[in-house]
Amino acid sequence: MTDTITLRRPDDWHVHLRDGDMLGRVAGATALQFARTIVMPNLAPPVTSVSAARAYRDRIMAALPRDTRFTPLMTAYLTDDSDPQEIARGAAEGVFTAAKLYPANATTNSAHGVTSIAAIRNVLEAMEAIGLPLLVHGEVTDADIDIFDREAVFIDRVLAPLLRDMPGLRIVFEHVTTADAVAFVESADADVAATITPHHLHINRNAMLVGGIRPHAYCLPVAKREAHRQALRKAATGTSDRFFLGTDSAPHERAAKESACGCAGIFNAPFAIESYAQVFDDEGALDRLEAFASLNGPAFYRLPPNEERITLKRGETIVPDLVDGIVPFHAGETLGWSLA
Ligand code: DOR
Ligand code: ZN
Repeated sequence: MTDTITLRRPDDWHVHLRDGDMLGRVAGATALQFARTIVMPNLAPPVTSVSAARAYRDRIMAALPRDTRFTPLMTAYLTDDSDPQEIARGAAEGVFTAAKLYPANATTNSAHGVTSIAAIRNVLEAMEAIGLPLLVHGEVTDADIDIFDREAVFIDRVLAPLLRDMPGLRIVFEHVTTADAVAFVESADADVAATITPHHLHINRNAMLVGGIRPHAYCLPVAKREAHRQALRKAATGTSDRFFLGTDSAPHERAAKESACGCAGIFNAPFAIESYAQVFDDEGALDRLEAFASLNGPAFYRLPPNEERITLKRGETIVPDLVDGIVPFHAGETLGWSLA
């Protein structure tokens, strides 16, 4: 039995670091575990310009210790009014590592999101030309589509046609939650990848609804039925290099979660790598954790893997009920790995 694993320091290819007071409370947890992260731009107002992304990056660095070796990789929030030249300039100046497509009203702070692919066609053409990755929140928002079907319908109605139309577009299908999404990514060509969160590997929809309604298990896309969770675990721990780590850690104040209309989002940053390690251990795939956490993401983003190493040891990690006032994923549970 393996009791110690050493891997290249991982990166988090999808995280919400928030802003203001919340940024100060959560950024440290991510910077402690990860070397680089793709930072989501869904602030209020959203990060749509190069100058806003630069200023946000500065606020993130200011929230961390001066000697941190952490690098936030910034993203542009696409709207119907996004200017292809602004996106291309941000990429050329090394500010934008990617651009994020939120379908309008799909999730937290997405009211300014994109209403149709046609509205951003010129932006997507510019991105295709320069190879800037498009990060996709893959859910339709049509009122007549059941929330558990929104990802699968998005593939048929939006993603598949988009790729047929613009086969050179580089796409990350973010936080996939279904067997359908796994199959889509596996059948697509090499420029289509996906992130998988720790929570979608650990919980199915029962976690949200059995024995009472559990707001801390609520996120978007919502966790699906068990067969989908099993497909995600197979994809994450399998041999495809198209799946990589993206926590989608999305902190909200406790009162905003424990509410008659609770916010979507799971705060998993404090014990993210331990949570993933548990999954890989349970699947007998600890030897593939490094590929998922530290190699596949950089390869897709055309960045070098990190040289620094981290060590995980078998041993109890007790997850507290609160981390700086926020309820973390796995609150009150014990994980089987600890970060040395
Ligand atoms: O659960 C989620 N929370 N899903 C998202 O897509 C956004 C995120 C947030 O920003 O709270
Ligand atoms: Zn997210």
